[in-house]
Amino acid sequence: MSDTNAIGLHSGSASDLAEKLNELLANYQIFYMNVRGYHWNVKGSNFFELHEKFEEFYTDLLAKVDEVAERILTLGHKPVHAYSDYISLSRITEAKDVHDGEACVRGVLEGYQRLIELQREILSVASDADDEGTASQVGDYIREQEKTVWMLGAYLG
Ligand SMILES: [Fe+2]
Repeated sequence: MSDTNAIGLHSGSASDLAEKLNELLANYQIFYMNVRGYHWNVKGSNFFELHEKFEEFYTDLLAKVDEVAERILTLGHKPVHAYSDYISLSRITEAKDVHDGEACVRGVLEGYQRLIELQREILSVASDADDEGTASQVGDYIREQEKTVWMLGAYLG
């Protein structure tokens, strides 16, 4: 049984999954901070609406940061926790000093698109490893975020 982890998954698969989940964690952390920036910096006639909406998004992203990190621990691995690692691992890049409401919404939309892409890759690896726990977690995120992408696209017209 030495090649399985505490939840009965093949150790090599768990290690591959933890690596992908750390990449996901990095993307969530950078995206979370970007959305906080949009919440703070957005200006214009839609300020109140967008300021509030961005808070809703970043609150949800922060909850998922913790869930992803704890899934990595559940797999028997360590979540990365340094911002320098997040910057080097994340495919979502830092957004600085964005004020225009539409540009902020586009940044949120593109961030969710990157998360969905990466989560689909993880879903595929998790399914191959018979890791139902990770597959269902990222599957839930994908379904929720696909709907968000539709709504943000509708907002942008
Ligand atoms: Fe606030």
